[in-house]
Amino acid sequence: MWSTVLYIGVILIALRLFKMLRIPPRSKLPPGPTGLPVIGNLFQLPTSRPWLVFDEWMKQYGPIVYLNIADRRANIYSDRPDFVVLNLLTGGMHWAWTQADELWRKKRRGAHVAMNAQTAKEYFPYQETESVIMLNQLLADPENFTDHFQRASTSLTLTIVYGWPPLLDSAHPNVLHIDRMNHELLIAAAPGSFWVEFKHFKWMRYLPKWMCAWRRDAENAFNHDSVMFEELSADVQKRMDAGDDVTCVAAKILQETENLFEASWNSVSIYSAGAETTSGQLAWFMQAMILYPEAQLLAQDELDRVVGPDRLPTFDDYEHLPFIRATVKEILRWRGVSPLGLPHRLSEDDYYEGYFLPKDTTCFVNIWSLHHDTEVYGADAEHFNPKRFLDANGNLQSSIVDTKDEGHYSYGFGKRICVGRYIANNSLFIHIAFLLWAFNITAKVDADGNPILPDSLQFNEGLIVRPAPFSCNIIPRKMDASDIIAQAKADRGL
Ligand code: HEM
Repeated sequence: MWSTVLYIGVILIALRLFKMLRIPPRSKLPPGPTGLPVIGNLFQLPTSRPWLVFDEWMKQYGPIVYLNIADRRANIYSDRPDFVVLNLLTGGMHWAWTQADELWRKKRRGAHVAMNAQTAKEYFPYQETESVIMLNQLLADPENFTDHFQRASTSLTLTIVYGWPPLLDSAHPNVLHIDRMNHELLIAAAPGSFWVEFKHFKWMRYLPKWMCAWRRDAENAFNHDSVMFEELSADVQKRMDAGDDVTCVAAKILQETENLFEASWNSVSIYSAGAETTSGQLAWFMQAMILYPEAQLLAQDELDRVVGPDRLPTFDDYEHLPFIRATVKEILRWRGVSPLGLPHRLSEDDYYEGYFLPKDTTCFVNIWSLHHDTEVYGADAEHFNPKRFLDANGNLQSSIVDTKDEGHYSYGFGKRICVGRYIANNSLFIHIAFLLWAFNITAKVDADGNPILPDSLQFNEGLIVRPAPFSCNIIPRKMDASDIIAQAKADRGL
């Protein structure tokens, strides 16, 4: 049952709404909860933690359908749905959210050149620098650890995309701005967020502006964001015109695209996709360290053996730190930031195992269910355990099919698979190695000395999910750690 065919608890949300309208004779839609006339399953769509409800539906109705969007059918499952609010927020210019047409292919090819496995190695020095700044910030202000993670991932993408020097301030306006924009986009794309997204309510898009707060808000945000994004690209153009050596992604885009507005949104599509995800994943990592202290000890043991106490880890240690690399895979599996991935749209009618899947169906893959399948990950799939990715000799192994050797599905599927995944894996590797080399991460205790453990089933809303706010102790592991960390910062002239 689990072979090259990808096992997907696909949530065919739009499907029920189509049911009364366009089912060809003798065809059968996949099973699912019974809906009401006209509005179908609209009110059954959970607005909070939908992947948990979809997981229940899958247990109740069976895996709704088996598809293979990883290869054979990838072509017809590569579009994005036509989101009304999201398209207002981006003016239809954010290519991670556009249809899989020729223009998207061109932009994606360009992004692949800038971020493939080989090119990603060129960013190692930037990633190490971000880790150094992050450790310094954590020493000074451990309570606000998530802000420092957010700074690090925004700063790295600003460097890669716009050639910026590292940001030193977690409250820099760019960090806050991109955070706000991503939040709005991901809410807009989450199932059930706006009535206007449902087939039978699409007419709402023609309502006058004065009647629709969602339209006014989205258009205002788009106008405001566009100004800022154009400034970012215009600044790159200015540096190029001045004859500076500008090697960033935005510079390449500007050389290929004359229109500044278009070039700026092309660049920002990468910038915004990279800013939120890695930092959210690090927040989950902190939670795993509190809840699974034995995994923390094993990772620190490896770091002590390979790196030792007198220097910080580097990418040169990569091959010798399999447990840290397994920790990266496991955190993306245990609490991946994208439990439903991003939505795909079916661009043609499809038939699969006797089921009819109509064109324009929105498909969410229930990655959460895949990641917690005990048949695949073992009886302890609910738990955080990096050892599942190691063989008996402690070497990294991944026998999970259709995951491009990742061992999990957090980077999505088919032709839309995350184009920044090499950079993301490298960032997670070096940040986690730095964090565990420098600190013990433990639970806070209450007045009676009992640990205050976070609930790892509490998430924020949206399609990229962080844990609900929680506290922890971040305590240097050795007396001279602060000196080594401060020295590393000074060596970089920061
Ligand atoms: C832990 C970190 C990350 C995770 C979990 C993640 C996850 C994802 C997912 C689930 C998708 C959608 C795939 C699909 O539609 O099936 C995606 C798309 C994308 N990601 Fe990432 N991502 C991460 C980091 C990054 C970084 C660092 C960058 C760039 C610097 C990036 C750039 C992109 C882009 C441009 C797309 C759109 C691809 C397209 O629509 O063709 N991501 N990512």
